[in-house]
Amino acid sequence: MAAQVTPLISAERIHSRIAELAVEIRRDAPDARLHFIGVLKGSVFFLSDLVRALPGACTMDFIAVSSYAGGTTSSGEVRMLKDVDRGLQDKDVIVVEDIVDTGLTLNYLHGILRARGPRSLRTACLLSKPSRRKVDVPVDYVGFTIDDHFVVGYGLDYDEHYRHLPYIGVLTS
Ligand code: IMP
Ligand code: MG
Repeated sequence: MAAQVTPLISAERIHSRIAELAVEIRRDAPDARLHFIGVLKGSVFFLSDLVRALPGACTMDFIAVSSYAGGTTSSGEVRMLKDVDRGLQDKDVIVVEDIVDTGLTLNYLHGILRARGPRSLRTACLLSKPSRRKVDVPVDYVGFTIDDHFVVGYGLDYDEHYRHLPYIGVLTS
């Protein structure tokens, strides 16, 4: 039977929550020129909506890591596929992730980014599955906390499919 996507979070809810997060992020750093680092590819729509809702100036860069080899469970191994283009010295960095599941990816990213000497390092993720956490990694801004479902859409994929969906849904087979 073909896989089905059951809607979980509508496009409208995603957009209004992102607007709230943008205001919250700016409120916590009123004068900073925030430097957003999007974790490719899952965070692209979240990052692009977040920075456009953010009051004030910011800059952006991207990093790509891989922790899944085309399945729905983490291999536990994180690999860098593309590094950021610019150094982070004295920057107020916000890492933007699609979803924090086991936390292994974010933990790895925090390690390598912190070593580059940013003034501050915070994280925004659209979704969090706290019940699946294997490492205790700090996440400063969370869009939605969800149960242990495999979700797709709004940037999130299953084997590169479904990223384009404007909403988030649960993948069921
Ligand atoms: P973690 O290292 O286990 O926290 O996983 C982080 C990465 O796994 C995320 O950035 C996603 O790319 C992917 N991932 C985890 N859960 C899901 C899901 O439910 N749907 C799609 N991708 C997921
Ligand atoms: Mg990701």
